[in-house]
Amino acid sequence: MDSFLPSPDCDTISKTYNGQIDSHLVQKTNERYREILPNLPRGKGWMTEHLVQYQGVWLTPNAALKGLMWVQGHFKPQSTDILLASFPKTGTTWLKALTFATINRTRYGFADHPLLTTVPHGCLPFLEACPNDLDGFPSPRLLSTHIPYTLLPNSMTGNQSCRFVYICRDPKDVLVSKWLFMNKLRPKELAPISLEEAFELFCQGISHYGPYWDHVLGYWKASLETPEQVLLLKYEELKEEPSVVVKRLGEFLGHPFSLEEESKGVVEEIMKLCSFENLSNLGVNKSSVLKLSTQIIVDNRHFFRKGKVGDGKSYLTDEMIKRINEITSEKLLGSGLVFDS
Ligand code: A3P
Repeated sequence: MDSFLPSPDCDTISKTYNGQIDSHLVQKTNERYREILPNLPRGKGWMTEHLVQYQGVWLTPNAALKGLMWVQGHFKPQSTDILLASFPKTGTTWLKALTFATINRTRYGFADHPLLTTVPHGCLPFLEACPNDLDGFPSPRLLSTHIPYTLLPNSMTGNQSCRFVYICRDPKDVLVSKWLFMNKLRPKELAPISLEEAFELFCQGISHYGPYWDHVLGYWKASLETPEQVLLLKYEELKEEPSVVVKRLGEFLGHPFSLEEESKGVVEEIMKLCSFENLSNLGVNKSSVLKLSTQIIVDNRHFFRKGKVGDGKSYLTDEMIKRINEITSEKLLGSGLVFDS
């Protein structure tokens, strides 16, 4: 297999909408987009000035909304596709690194591995940003997405279709991680968002791909109904028992670790390569940048902050912790899913 992309060029979506690829479909998506945009509910944005609500989810009005519409209308999934799905700031970077390293473990040596010179986001395409470019991509395709499960087209979620690995995390840590990250990306002309404001917005569900709890529940329910198609991982479990989770990941992806690999320490090598300590100290992740769109360029170092469980609590007041815990208990009630902190 060949799922490694040396450069993600997530700018492809702009090319797509400039009509260089399949201009008829592009035009149709653009027309529909222009038609619906003015009537969508608006909320305050974290990184952009505002977000819009479409089919119950909050999105940036340009790239994320167009990306979702494109995927819903025109993406052609393959039954061998593997989607790494997440709500932003739940551990996407780590999941990408671990999965990429697991799937490609016989292909690359650990001493000269692509993850040593490429940020994990550059190792696989982001579905919403490069949909057309994927048609000629060799299978099995390893892709990532932030789209909620319930908004994906049936062609992706139906029987015998794509497989999903989803990562989720305690909402308090997600909120704080997201607040700090988004303020770094927020244009200088917009005043930074205060923690109090971010907290209120997050609790109301107004954040990229929010409400967070709906996002998690969509994938959680799918993982219960079709466990062979959807694997749900928790950031906290990964932190606690990385080797158990990496082995589970290998099995789910149809690449189980053999006894020989286990005895040679391959699982440990993958964990070491993808660890926060290793990745965050690499030159590429300290000083290079990732181009997310024509306007948004992110310093790779911002993808690695502390990588700790429970850090959110040190930013939030007792009252905020109580309220977010109550919302979480209420939203997840009866689902069987819990976050233990
Ligand atoms: P913190 O801000 O709490 O440190 P995402 O990848 O979805 O954007 O999530 C970012 C969060 O994952 C950040 O959390 C970041 O530090 C953490 N992270 C990134 N790489 C990691 C790794 N290899 N191991 C553990 N955590 C990691």
